[in-house]
Amino acid sequence: MATLPRDERYSIVAIWFHWAIAAMVILNLVIGLFHESLLAGWKGSIGIHKAVGITVLVLTAGRILWRLAHRPPTLPANVAGWERGAAHAAHWALYALLFIMPLTGWAMSSGPKRYPLTWFGLFDIPYLPVSAGTAGFSHEAHEVLGFLMAGLVVIHVAAALRHHFLLRDRVLARMLPSAARH
Ligand code: HEM
Ligand code: HEM
Repeated sequence: MATLPRDERYSIVAIWFHWAIAAMVILNLVIGLFHESLLAGWKGSIGIHKAVGITVLVLTAGRILWRLAHRPPTLPANVAGWERGAAHAAHWALYALLFIMPLTGWAMSSGPKRYPLTWFGLFDIPYLPVSAGTAGFSHEAHEVLGFLMAGLVVIHVAAALRHHFLLRDRVLARMLPSAARH
């Protein structure tokens, strides 16, 4: 794929943040949604889910700081006003969920019924100082917002594929590492 000019693509750092976090979120949605059914035989799945989720939280903090200092490229002129609004709303909802999902998971795992909380067995992750009520509420929120996030990701991916294969513009290309090759 051809290299895109700097003002028509995301920075290479933004691109790697996007794909690293996307891979981890997809893994966590799959584990979260299927750990009691298809993945029931995989005993360590929730331990991995928790460690991956905490990693998403840390990477998202770095990603937001980078994003505040680096504006994304403007959308191509063929994108209608309502589509710009929808894309903006979806992106900010995804950013919010990238914080809220790990935080609610961490809070619910810090309630009275505690299981080991480690980062891939390498070091312990501290429990949050939350009440039983907050942990219970966080559990509900984690479940409901998990479904919301899965739905938003499906819409987000469908929109990206529509740009690439139907509208044939550069919206997907500018989020690919090959667009930023030097
Ligand atoms: C990117 C971050 C995360 C995503 C997208 C995510 C998503 C999900 C989803 C969709 C579920 C299934 C909801 C249900 O059926 O109850 C789930 C369950 C769960 N999550 Fe997360 N999660 C994330 C981070 C975390 C973190 C950081 C922790 C803890 C430190 C955590 C702990 C759990 C636990 C213990 C369950 C099982 C709940 C149960 O079976 O009742 N999650 N997660
Ligand atoms: C699964 C988890 C994913 C999450 C949480 C996520 C989140 C985001 C966020 C927050 C942005 C906005 C970036 C910004 O302008 O600051 C974005 C942009 C983008 N994402 Fe994702 N994404 C995910 C997966 C994917 C996948 C699988 C694809 C492709 C099939 C994709 C394609 C894109 C594209 C093309 C853009 C740029 C849109 C534009 O230029 O306006 N994303 N993503």
